[in-house]
Amino acid sequence: MKRISIFVSGNGTNLQRIAEYFKDNQEVEIVNVVCNNPKAYAIERAKNLGIPLRMITKKEFNSQEFTEEMKALNLDLIVLAGFLWKIPSSLIQAHPQKIINIHPALLPKYGGKGFYGEHVHEAVVAAKEAHSGITVHYVDEVYDNGEIILQAHTKLDPNETPDTLAAKIHKLEQAYFPVVIETIINN
Ligand code: GRF
Repeated sequence: MKRISIFVSGNGTNLQRIAEYFKDNQEVEIVNVVCNNPKAYAIERAKNLGIPLRMITKKEFNSQEFTEEMKALNLDLIVLAGFLWKIPSSLIQAHPQKIINIHPALLPKYGGKGFYGEHVHEAVVAAKEAHSGITVHYVDEVYDNGEIILQAHTKLDPNETPDTLAAKIHKLEQAYFPVVIETIINN
C-alpha cells in the first residue's frame, strides 16, 4: 500500500482529481488532507471524499510535533496541491525526495515568493510569453526551486487573458498531476 498526504490551501480541484483518479486503486491510500485555510473550499471536498482532514495553524505547522505526526503516518509521498506556506526544513528532512509540488508555470520562470494563483498568469500574459505550462517538482527549502520532475507546455494565443490561460493550465494539471504521482510512487 502506498500512502499519500495532500496539502491544500484553496479550491482543491487538484485534490479532487487526484482522489478520484486513485479511488479504485487498492494500492494507494490518501491518508489525510492537511489544510491551513479555514475558508478553503478544499475542506468541503475532503469531507465529501471521505478523507480525514487535518486543519493546521502556522505555529503547529512549523513545530517539531507536526513533523513527528507526519513521520508517524509512514508516508510514501506528500503532495502540495495549491499549498501556500513554505515547508519547514524538519518536515523536508524527514521526507527526503518525498514531497512534490505543482506550479502553474514553466519554472524557473515565474516562480518564487509571490508567484501563486492568478499572479502567475497575469505576469506570463503581461510578458507576452509564447508558452506557459505546468511544473511538477520536488520540494526543497527554497520556494519553487527543487528538482523538476515534469513540465507540460501550452501555447498562448494572441488574445490570451490571465483567465483563459488559467483554464488551459487547469486542464494540464488535471491531465498530468495524478499520472506523475502514480509514476513516482511506483518507482
Ligand atoms: C494550481 O494552479 C496549482 O498549480 C497551484 O495552485 C493551484 C491550486 O488549485 N500550485 P486547486 O486548489 O487545486 O484548485
